[in-house]
Order: sequence, then C-alpha cells, then structure tokens
Amino acid sequence: STYQTILTETKGSGVAVITLNRPKALNALCNQLLDELVHALEAYQKDDSVAAVVITGSNKAFAAGADIKEMAELTFRDTFTQQLFANTDRIQSIQKPIIAAVNGYALGGGFELAMICDMIIAGENAKFGQPEIRLGTIPGIGGTQRLTRALGKSKAMEMILTGDQMDAKTAQAYGLVTRVVPEAELLDAAIEIGNKIAAHSKLTIAIAKQAVNQAFETSLREGVLVERNLFYSTFSTKIGMKAFVEKAKPAWTNS
Ligand code: HXC
Repeated sequence: STYQTILTETKGSGVAVITLNRPKALNALCNQLLDELVHALEAYQKDDSVAAVVITGSNKAFAAGADIKEMAELTFRDTFTQQLFANTDRIQSIQKPIIAAVNGYALGGGFELAMICDMIIAGENAKFGQPEIRLGTIPGIGGTQRLTRALGKSKAMEMILTGDQMDAKTAQAYGLVTRVVPEAELLDAAIEIGNKIAAHSKLTIAIAKQAVNQAFETSLREGVLVERNLFYSTFSTKIGMKAFVEKAKPAWTNS
C-alpha cells in the first residue's frame, strides 16, 4: 500500500488488520495518520471480502495521543477553520465492526480512538488515560462523551480532571474492555473475535451494529422502535432460519 504511518493486511476469513505504525512517536496521531486510517477504513467498508477490522498498535503503545508536536504549532483559528480531528467522525460511519486491540499506552486521542471502535480488547499491560488536562487542553475526539457513557460521571470526571491512568483489569471491571489477555496473545485474540463475526451474515452484522449504536442516540422507547424495524428488515433474507430448520449450515451469500 501507499500508506506511510499505518500497515494493513488481511488475516483469517476476512479480518483486516490496521497497525498504527509511528514507533518513534509512540503512534501519536498526527494528521497524516488519521487521514490514512480513515482512508483505509473506508476502503475496507467498500471491500466485500472484509467482514471486520482490527486496529492495533505496538506492544509499547496503541497510541500515545494526538501529536503534541504538531498541535503545539496551531492557533485557535487554525483548529477552528481546519476543523481539527473532525475527520474522525467518519469512523463512526463505518458499518463493519471495528475491534481495538490495545497493548501499552492508549492515551488522549489514542484512548478516544479505541472508544470510537465497537469493542476494546486489551493486553495485560494496557494503560488508558486522558492526560490532556496536563497539557492545558481537554479530550477532543469524543472522550468527554464516550468515557462518561462507559464509566459513569464520577470515574470519567476523575480521569479527565486528574489525568490519571487506568490499567487493563480496572478497565475490564468497568466494562470498558471486553477481554484482557496476555500481551503476546492480543492480536490473535482480536482476530479470533473477527473470525467469529466473519462467520455470520455481513448484512445482519451491519444491522446489529447499527441497532446497538442506537442505544447511545435515543430514548429507550425510540431505541426499541428502531431495533424492531431493523429486526423486521432482517426478514428480507431467511438464509439462517431456513438452514436451522433444515439442519444445514447457513450459506451466507451476499446477505
Ligand atoms: C508527539 C509523542 C507523543 C505525543 C510520545 N511522543 N507521545 N510525540 N505526541 N502524544 C514521542 C516523544 O516525544 C518521544 O520522542 C517518543 O515519542 C517516545 O516517548 P517518551 O516520552 O520518550 O517515552 P516514555 O518515557 O516511555 O513515556 C511514554 C509516555 C509519554 C508516558 C506515553 O511519551 C507521554 O506522556 N506522552 C504524551 C502523552 C499525552 O499527553 N497524550 C495526550 C496528547 S493530547 P522524542 O523524539 O521527543 O524523544 C491529545 C489531545 C486529544 O491526545 C485532543 C484531541 C485529540
């Protein structure tokens, strides 16, 4: 590929792996990296052979935040007119599942990127934090919103106002992280989840993801209504139910 700050490959049965790859800067999210990441995700969204995407970093760092050296040069006017980091909104529009596989530091924008993903798997050495306050700034890729939904107000306030980090086990206890595995097994564990997803209907997976995400957007009544209509939409194909009745393995075509 022509990317300079990420690596891309496909594993297993249609699981794409994007590796953040700026080792000298602990994968700090410079503008180029975010552009390349969004570009790669949008390409995988269009690629019928891809069922799920894993985003990972190195053993030392998933990503140590937005690139502070780049940000240090920007004025308010620059950030406002460029709409700095607004391109990360496009990650939310990806319909395929995205799994964050986190070893080491997931700080600031790195933590926020992990939280944009659909689930987080962590290595035992993972460290999560929003240290922006120490730089005189605040989370800017959704951290104040997603962390608060994930942990509740009190813990989110503590993390965002103190800048203190949280370890993998604690993050799991709060439900922020779905699994904690030994560092060396992280990528395989993420790919295994991707493979399980890939065994199902791609269309229904996208519908299920949309339904779950609706839980963050609406009242319970409205969310249940959205779910019901999405559920009805899955009756456009009956491959899975027919296969069950016939005691056969479902052959998901392009549905
Ligand atoms: C730019 C970074 C960086 C970052 C590390 N580096 N984090 N460069 N932006 N966020 C660079 C260092 O400058 C250094 O390069 C190299 O990576 C290795 O880092 P060290 O600090 O030498 O490593 P270590 O001593 O092991 O400390 C690791 C660390 C520390 C604790 C993670 O690097 C750190 O505190 N980083 C900043 C974390 C942070 O504040 N993140 C939030 C950013 S603000 P050189 O060449 O200098 O030696 C943010 C804004 C969000 O994310 C708002 C919207 C996105």
